[in-house]
Amino acid sequence: MSSPPPPEGEGRDGHAGGGRSFSYGEAEYWDARYVEEGGTPYDWYQRYEALRPFVRRFAPPASRLLMVGCGSALMSEDMVSDGYAEIMNIDISSVVIEMMRKKYFNIPQLQYLRMDVRDMSMFPDESFDCAIDKGTLDSLMCGVDAPLSATRMVLEVDRLLRPGGVFILITYGDPSVRVPHLNQPSCNWKIVLYILPRPGFTGEIRRHVLNPVPLTERGRLPDGFVPEDPDSHYVYVCEKMQGLTGAGSPTVNDIERQRGRINYRLIHPA
Ligand SMILES: C[S@@+](CC[C@H](N)C(=O)[O-])C[C@H]1O[C@@H](n2cnc3c(N)ncnc32)[C@H](O)[C@@H]1O
Repeated sequence: MSSPPPPEGEGRDGHAGGGRSFSYGEAEYWDARYVEEGGTPYDWYQRYEALRPFVRRFAPPASRLLMVGCGSALMSEDMVSDGYAEIMNIDISSVVIEMMRKKYFNIPQLQYLRMDVRDMSMFPDESFDCAIDKGTLDSLMCGVDAPLSATRMVLEVDRLLRPGGVFILITYGDPSVRVPHLNQPSCNWKIVLYILPRPGFTGEIRRHVLNPVPLTERGRLPDGFVPEDPDSHYVYVCEKMQGLTGAGSPTVNDIERQRGRINYRLIHPA
């Protein structure tokens, strides 16, 4: 697992030959990187094992799954080993898609298509029950026109999910930089936030990972809330709602209200 992409707006990073450097937001960067890596699999941030509790809870194995920006990660393969039957993987890099197609030609549960997450018009509306992103929105945030790219991606994911479907976003971005992109006016997400320490973190974690983290009414972390691991990963589970916005993570006000009645702590154990 590597360190996260550079902070948003500072996306110049890789050298793809010819003296020009490309950013995480550009297909050329990823093509060059996947050529260089020569087919070595690589999972950003977290492996499936750590994410399994979320995936299993929110997406049953029979779900029609969309893995956006799949890269060379083992995540989809691990999910098939765990019983998932239908995973459509897309990535903007033709290099990695070709590589993954060859690698998994005999695993019918895994399909790979070269596609830009900002335009997935090849798929009809409501084609999927669950979409998973680990690191793709983060890459777009390092590219040019980042806010526009993020909007297009979120609208496309929303379009492709059936009502009640879930978008699981795994990112290094805290709510102040991710919730505004998720909260598109035409989307109606119920957002629940979880925080996972980075792999190898040895400090004490006072909260069960499957306990949602409260958000303020504005969709921010409560004042004074500091994750145990400053390099934590954020898992946003966004349910596509019909009608009025549903309740997501408990808000600080919810917790304040409940405090009067029950002994409810801001960070509570499982
Ligand atoms: C940080 S990597 C994450 C890869 C993989 N999801 C993982 O967890 O290891 C970001 C991936 O997003 C892909 N990507 C970047 N921009 C994209 C876009 N506009 N559409 C689809 N994929 C994109 C890159 O090619 C790369 O494979």
